[in-house]
Amino acid sequence: KSVSDLGELRGKRVLIRCDLNVPLDDGRITDDGRIRASVPTLTQLREAGAKIIVLAHLGRPKGQVKPEFSLAPAAKRLGELLGTEVKLAGDVVGESATETVASLNDGEVAMLENVRFEPGEESKDEAERGALADKYAALGDVFVSDGFGVVHRKQASVYDLAGKLPNAAGGLVKAEVEVLRQLTEEPAEPYVVVLGGAKVSDKLAVIDNLLKTADTLVIGGGMLFTFLAAQGYEVGKSLLEQDQVEVVKGYLEQADKVGKKIVLPTDVIVAPEFKADAKPTVVGVDQIPQDQLGLDIGPESAAAFAAVIKDAKTVFWNGPMGVAEWAAFAGGTRAVAQALTEVDGLSVVGGGDSAAAVRDLGFADDQFGHISTGGGASLEYLEGKELPGLAVLG
Ligand code: 3PG
Repeated sequence: KSVSDLGELRGKRVLIRCDLNVPLDDGRITDDGRIRASVPTLTQLREAGAKIIVLAHLGRPKGQVKPEFSLAPAAKRLGELLGTEVKLAGDVVGESATETVASLNDGEVAMLENVRFEPGEESKDEAERGALADKYAALGDVFVSDGFGVVHRKQASVYDLAGKLPNAAGGLVKAEVEVLRQLTEEPAEPYVVVLGGAKVSDKLAVIDNLLKTADTLVIGGGMLFTFLAAQGYEVGKSLLEQDQVEVVKGYLEQADKVGKKIVLPTDVIVAPEFKADAKPTVVGVDQIPQDQLGLDIGPESAAAFAAVIKDAKTVFWNGPMGVAEWAAFAGGTRAVAQALTEVDGLSVVGGGDSAAAVRDLGFADDQFGHISTGGGASLEYLEGKELPGLAVLG
């Protein structure tokens, strides 16, 4: 269902889940892409005269009220983009939330505090999540799901709440799903998936399934060192998930067996410490010094990755190749981003970190086929998993 299927919204209280989980540096938003992406649906609701209540999370405060995870910067930025004040409640479902919602006029926007301040939000206990969802539901009349980046999470404001009120998918969720559907339903070949980034274990879990759908997997970012270790290389002080080495060995064997390619770096950039101004050195993957750590793929690998990407007809990329926010370790990410802009076919960048990295490196959104607001969500979609936040809508 779309927002337009919800009937007359004038004067109705519309609870909308958005993904406003933006990167912050000292309280300053460094990439507002996810907030911008939320604007069209919110504008549609304002124009329809709804009283809008935004639910969102920031970071992982794990059920505790932590001021550094307040949604205040996101509420302020959203207000600037909408051209109207966004009234931020002082709590999630307490007195302040009730008062803030009650004060709304038609077309006005309120935001509850970080839903992850409530232990029920991410609870594994259905009853606990349900109890919190009841409190959310009491604040509204209908629910709109527009936080594509969180639809893979079975959480109170994403999943349970949708079951308590008439619901619909917002325009952002619809648009994201449409692009991802193109990637899963007979993608033009070669289909290349490029994986990087720091959330290593999350990504290792998706590789199994991606090996079934993609022709080639290109591996960079933090997880590459677990792959190198699986190949028998020493990785020095680099990020390594020792308990995943055997799993990765299995992936490498499986890829061989089914005739899929896993492309790994042949060189990396190492440094003595995890610092922006640490001295970078290019080394072969068989020469990583014991007392150094890898912070980017090397130039030879970057060129090889770029060649594979440019030859593809469909590319999905999730996760920077190195520490892209530091100039000395951004080369791999820049090369991959550049290659994506040259793809003769569909190129999709997925995830907050990758999107932030390409914008920070000076690329424009329209140089890519699509920039998805979802990292984990888009990967799980591509894996063919059922996403709870989508499955519950209807
Ligand atoms: C994201 O950043 O991918 C989404 O906002 C979900 O965040 P999470 O991984 O902390 O659930």
